[in-house]
Amino acid sequence: MLNNPKNQGMVLWFTGLSGAGKTTIANKIAKILSEEGSKYELIDGDVLREQLNWDLGFDEDGRKKNVNIAGYTANLLSKHGVIVLVTLISPFKEQRDRIKMSINNFVEIYVNTPLEVCIQRDHKGLYKKALANEIPNFTGISHPYEAPLKPDVEIDTSIISIDDCVKKIINFLNEKIARLD
Ligand SMILES: Nc1ncnc2c1ncn2[C@@H]1O[C@H](COP(=O)(O)OP(=O)(O)OP(=O)(O)O)[C@@H](O)[C@H]1O
Ligand SMILES: [Mg+2]
Repeated sequence: MLNNPKNQGMVLWFTGLSGAGKTTIANKIAKILSEEGSKYELIDGDVLREQLNWDLGFDEDGRKKNVNIAGYTANLLSKHGVIVLVTLISPFKEQRDRIKMSINNFVEIYVNTPLEVCIQRDHKGLYKKALANEIPNFTGISHPYEAPLKPDVEIDTSIISIDDCVKKIINFLNEKIARLD
């Protein structure tokens, strides 16, 4: 349970490889927040590209613009007491750090699942295509992923269950909110 009596807005930024578990974990947290009556919003990379940024590519420029739009929107919402869950590969460290500096309560969650496990899961069938050179600029295969050096929370979903990932994040948030009071 999230103990947020002053309804602090914040941004929970999930970064990691495709298939790492960002969306799965964020959806579970969103469900808890919804049941508790907290104000929350989800900004998911796939949905953002489908609904708004369909014209952006996966080269560096396209990715950076997509990530900046998510960061900008998350910042606006969080200023109004919304807990914003952002699930984006967001591969560039310098860009994530810049967004972090611009947002008041920013929590960087590194979903650090090994590439081999993500390839095995291949939940969208994209790794198979990327490994066959059918998709250019695929993170971890033909495009870089710059891991966070000091994330607020780090989880490896190959060794921790989804529920334990959620617990770890909620515990961190409760400690953080208590420090803000
Ligand atoms: N402990 C775990 N935590 C999260 N996901 C897990 C875990 N164990 C297995 N999985 C599975 O891993 C897959 C992760 O997929 P998910 O869509 O959440 O990844 P993602 O990081 O959002 O990828 P993308 O960037 O491509 O959207 C799901 O099929 C999920 O059920
Ligand atoms: Mg996802």
